[in-house]
Amino acid sequence: MSAEDKANEVSADAQVQEPTPSSPDNDASASSDSAGGPITLFFIIGLAASLVLGWVIFPQLLYSKKKQPVDFNHKLHMGLVDEGCQSCHFFREDGTYSGVPKLAQCMDCHEEMQGDHPEEEKFVNEYMAKDLEVPWLVYARQPDCVFFPHAAHVKLAKMDCVTCHGNIGESENLRVYEANWITGYSRDIWGKNIAGIKRNSWDRMKMDDCSECHQKNNVNQASVQTHKGGCFVCHK
Ligand code: HEC
Ligand code: HEC
Ligand code: HEC
Ligand code: HEC
Ligand code: HEC
Repeated sequence: MSAEDKANEVSADAQVQEPTPSSPDNDASASSDSAGGPITLFFIIGLAASLVLGWVIFPQLLYSKKKQPVDFNHKLHMGLVDEGCQSCHFFREDGTYSGVPKLAQCMDCHEEMQGDHPEEEKFVNEYMAKDLEVPWLVYARQPDCVFFPHAAHVKLAKMDCVTCHGNIGESENLRVYEANWITGYSRDIWGKNIAGIKRNSWDRMKMDDCSECHQKNNVNQASVQTHKGGCFVCHK
């Protein structure tokens, strides 16, 4: 309502009631009759704004995006190597996992350019020629306090890489890496869905996700729920 309206209303009221423009009765009737619309509207706008802020903008602000130093094509390379995934990701003799490959594993083929792809050019000129390891960003990287043995899962439990990593092994490009500003951890740990919905086994890998599968499989149960110690199954 405009100031003019208000003034009219007040003067009209003043003729029949007490001549005090600020009497509580006046204010109450004015706001309950005509301000209900705008208040509801403000409420809806405010609600919509906070939903957008909380569900869309905040999660985006919480993560910084980083491009991998070189884009690696898994699909292409799987057609070139002899031993599948193990050509690059293998168990060492002591049972530890090699993880992300080192330059030496690319050397045999990339000491010289294999084609003219700009990503290969970058890889060969900036890393191979200078003997510099590529600082790959590891999506699955857990905090330092976590102990995760691939051997227990891949060799003993015979689990597939896809169960925890999704289809990276068949991909043609490496996706953008997202790091949480506060913790510094990869977004793959908490997952994308802030409502906590998990559609695939690889959507996220929080403490509860490890424990849930361990409980199902009766792994040496260090129950997080019962707090009966045993935290050191997964923590060092
Ligand atoms: C068995 C041989 C072989 C090995 C081992 C190998 N590459 Fe390649 N790589 C190739 C060939 C062949 C191409 C295709 C070149 C073309 O046709 O453009 C290629 C292409 C590439 C490209 C650019 C093409 C693209 O689509 O992304 C990059 C980057 C690359 N390799 C990185 C690596 C890295 C890093 C390693 C080690 C982890 C590696 N390669 C190991 C043979 C190999
Ligand atoms: C020619 C070498 C090569 C082969 C063969 C290969 N990879 Fe990789 N892989 C790489 C390189 C280089 C990276 C580094 C990119 C990165 O940090 O994600 C990588 C990263 C990965 C990662 C991501 C780890 C993380 O969390 O960042 C997974 C999972 C993976 N590979 C699975 C596979 C699977 C499954 C196969 C077989 C289907 C396979 N790879 C075959 C070279 C290879
Ligand atoms: C039970 C879940 C699980 C399975 C199955 C699994 N991984 Fe992993 N992987 C992880 C976790 C968790 C990490 C992070 C470990 C860490 O940060 O200490 C990881 C890390 C990696 C890395 C990066 C390691 C590094 O530090 O350089 C590669 C590469 C990888 N996995 C490839 C594979 C491949 C290939 C397979 C299949 C042969 C596989 N993983 C099976 C959960 C799994
Ligand atoms: C089945 C494996 C597993 C067990 C058992 C386990 N944790 Fe964890 N814990 C993890 C993983 C994975 C993370 C990192 C991901 C996350 O923050 O959820 C983690 C994270 C944590 C963190 C946060 C650390 C950080 O740097 O963010 C604390 C604190 C913690 N665990 C305490 C405990 C305690 C106390 C117990 C025993 C009651 C326990 N955990 C048992 C797997 C486990
Ligand atoms: C999808 C199922 C699954 C997920 C997810 C999983 N694990 Fe496991 N884990 C297993 C199974 C099954 C075993 C038992 C392997 C065996 O001994 O046969 C195991 C064994 C282990 C062991 C060895 C336990 C022992 O007694 O020696 C550790 C440590 C471990 N897991 C840590 C982790 C951590 C940390 C995570 C999360 C980052 C994780 N696991 C996620 C299924 C899973």
